[in-house]
Amino acid sequence: MNAQEKYREYVITSMVASIEPVTLIEGEGAVVVDETGKSYVDGFSGISVTNVGHGAPEVAAAAKAQIEKLVHCNSYMYHVQPVADLAEKLAEITPGRLKKTFFANSGAEALEGAMRITKQHTKKHEFVALQMAFHGRTLGTLSITGNSGRKKGGGPYMPGVAFHPAPYCYRCPFGLTYPSCELKCATELGNTVKFATSGDVAAFVAEPVLGEAGIVTPPEGYFQKVKEVCDEQDMLLLVDEVQTGFGRCGEMFAIEASGVEPDVMTMAKGIANGFPLGAFTVSDEIATAFRPGDHLSTFGGNPVSCAAAIATIGVMEKRRLPQEAKRKGQATLAALRTLQARHSMIGDVRGMGLMIGLEMIADAGKTPAAAAATRVRTLCRERGLLVGVGGVYGNVVRFQPPLVITDAQIEQCVSILDWALGQVGDAVSA
Ligand SMILES: Cc1ncc(COP(=O)(O)O)c(C=O)c1O
Repeated sequence: MNAQEKYREYVITSMVASIEPVTLIEGEGAVVVDETGKSYVDGFSGISVTNVGHGAPEVAAAAKAQIEKLVHCNSYMYHVQPVADLAEKLAEITPGRLKKTFFANSGAEALEGAMRITKQHTKKHEFVALQMAFHGRTLGTLSITGNSGRKKGGGPYMPGVAFHPAPYCYRCPFGLTYPSCELKCATELGNTVKFATSGDVAAFVAEPVLGEAGIVTPPEGYFQKVKEVCDEQDMLLLVDEVQTGFGRCGEMFAIEASGVEPDVMTMAKGIANGFPLGAFTVSDEIATAFRPGDHLSTFGGNPVSCAAAIATIGVMEKRRLPQEAKRKGQATLAALRTLQARHSMIGDVRGMGLMIGLEMIADAGKTPAAAAATRVRTLCRERGLLVGVGGVYGNVVRFQPPLVITDAQIEQCVSILDWALGQVGDAVSA
């Protein structure tokens, strides 16, 4: 049996039905290669993970050296150097007073721990999260996920979660337009606390850019206003940087662009360039809410993943990848906006750094065109470009390549997208 046959027979697959399986063998930089030898520009980085590129030699060398020394020990009886060094580094690169880190294995686990510590610190028990948000697939993280599509079949969920409208300007939940809206999506947060909770809110949880929702970028000034409301309501601001962090959005962490200092920050995905690792970081003061032994994960803070993370961050700093993401992201957005002028099915082009979405629509009434987005993904793959599809309506083509992607590769991606959009548009109008 080949890999695909074995998958069919033995793997409980996460693969969505509309995707034709391809077996990937290797990768370098922004390119991956399948079992037939065909290469693709990776426009999705394994869902925003391999930020410093596939096969990054510095990361591989750090992981290999650690593997040869010590792969695992438990975190409640022993210390290891890579955990200490990574925690120190995170204290240096995370905003403001964020200083102490708890290590887990994944984004969802990071969020679970972060929610728990906010409850223990505030002695409050509820959360406000955003409609359309995605925070993971454990019971707690699905409870703060604002999308029934992701939650179906797993309920009932945790009580004590209220959902607040998302800052989705293209389809404003208040029917308003920025800036005359005066950021109602942020200022109304106080009313959500007042009317949809018992007032016992530990934290407001938000992604700086809502990834799975379809690369929804909040308008300028949003997080400053949100922070004001959080302070008025005496609730913490828990920022989920699992997808936006580690250079992806043009800063080491996307929230930095707003100048707002979160109380709690979660991380995973790009932290170790593909080695499994999740983390949350808080101030000294909040950290004391966990007494030793309160929270633990057997594999959390695995020495190999932590060594890989230190090397990953080192590469980001040395090659100024957050700044590169900002520059390349601006160029990509500009190029995609020229495509928008030619392809009427592109309703919106938005993004921050190299976290970019093309929202596909069927008509001037903005009817979501999910089938078109899926078709674009298939056609792109045929021509050697891997892109994602997401969004609450399944109609957003996602471009989130490794930050080391070259300018020439970006041009190649834009021209493949142009061709694919033309094919889909021609088919629709025929
Ligand atoms: C913003 C955000 N939070 C949390 C998660 C969950 O991370 P993981 O899949 O590592 O559990 C994701 C995954 O896509 C995410 O995008």
